[in-house]
Amino acid sequence: MFTRTSLKKATLAAVIGSTLGMSSLVNAATEIKAAFNQSNQHPQYVALQGVAEKLERKTDGRYKLSIFPNELLGDQRAALELVQMGSVQMAVVANPLVENYDKTFRVIGMPYIYTGPEHQEKVFTSGMLDELFASTSKFGFEVLTAYTAGARSMYTKKGPINTIEDMKGEKIRVMQSDTMIKMLSCMGGTGVAMGQGEVYSAIQQGVLDGAENNEITYADLKQYEVAPYFSSTRHLMVPDLVVMSTDFLSSMPKADRDILVNLVKESTQMEFELWNKQISEAKAIAQSKGAKFNDVDIKPFQDSCKSLQDSLIETPAQKELFKQITELK
Ligand code: GCU
Repeated sequence: MFTRTSLKKATLAAVIGSTLGMSSLVNAATEIKAAFNQSNQHPQYVALQGVAEKLERKTDGRYKLSIFPNELLGDQRAALELVQMGSVQMAVVANPLVENYDKTFRVIGMPYIYTGPEHQEKVFTSGMLDELFASTSKFGFEVLTAYTAGARSMYTKKGPINTIEDMKGEKIRVMQSDTMIKMLSCMGGTGVAMGQGEVYSAIQQGVLDGAENNEITYADLKQYEVAPYFSSTRHLMVPDLVVMSTDFLSSMPKADRDILVNLVKESTQMEFELWNKQISEAKAIAQSKGAKFNDVDIKPFQDSCKSLQDSLIETPAQKELFKQITELK
């Protein structure tokens, strides 16, 4: 479903797309348009930019990857639909968006499933997710790799969150999936689902009391300006997924497809490195602009969300994946 803003941006991008399409005809390079919802400083943008450079070189200029940041091709939900339709070839979307198609994906974004970034990196680079990632081709897209998006915490307008009680009545933006709305309820607040691009103004206008995200997005999108209290609940480590149109992938000669798929896979490690470097920088930037960070005793939040965690694992495939992930600690 398109929101009005995402449609406007998608239309604009289609115009840009056709212009670029024309120039790519002249250059005889096939353009791969990638939708990205954050800035061109973000670790995921930088990692994909690395893929773009290598792809052009390794395919002798036959393919050109152009990344459109800042939701220029629509918010993540719109972007995923455009990938399915094949009008955009690639996108980075948060795991909950893909979970809407196949609930097995829930497992890799479950609260507290990773012990930390090292565990998450092991899971993403182990190959254990390959089968799951390929299985979405029946929906018209494939997941090529997972990127880290760190740990998510609450940030609010009026004051710090320390307890479940503090969350009462707080309208907090969440990503567009039912699990995220339920997650917010078990933490004591009310989840309001919307695309990332609308969060800043929704908090500013009082439609929301805050949001939840990692430090990099918080700083990258200057959300500290409207919600200066960042409380480290670290309740989720939700992966971001690089998705690609199945039709487009099938249209590529095998050798070029292998180059692209491998480059994207390999970029995960680089993205983790970039992430780890940027995280303290992001926090320092936010602090220098007046953001206040506080530690939180997360045990009561964990306890309160335990039953949600249990209810998220329903199928044998989910159970098996959960087991494999926890065994890799
Ligand atoms: C993180 C994540 C994005 C996602 C965003 C959101 O920043 O990396 O993929 O879009 O959260 O909350 O929407």
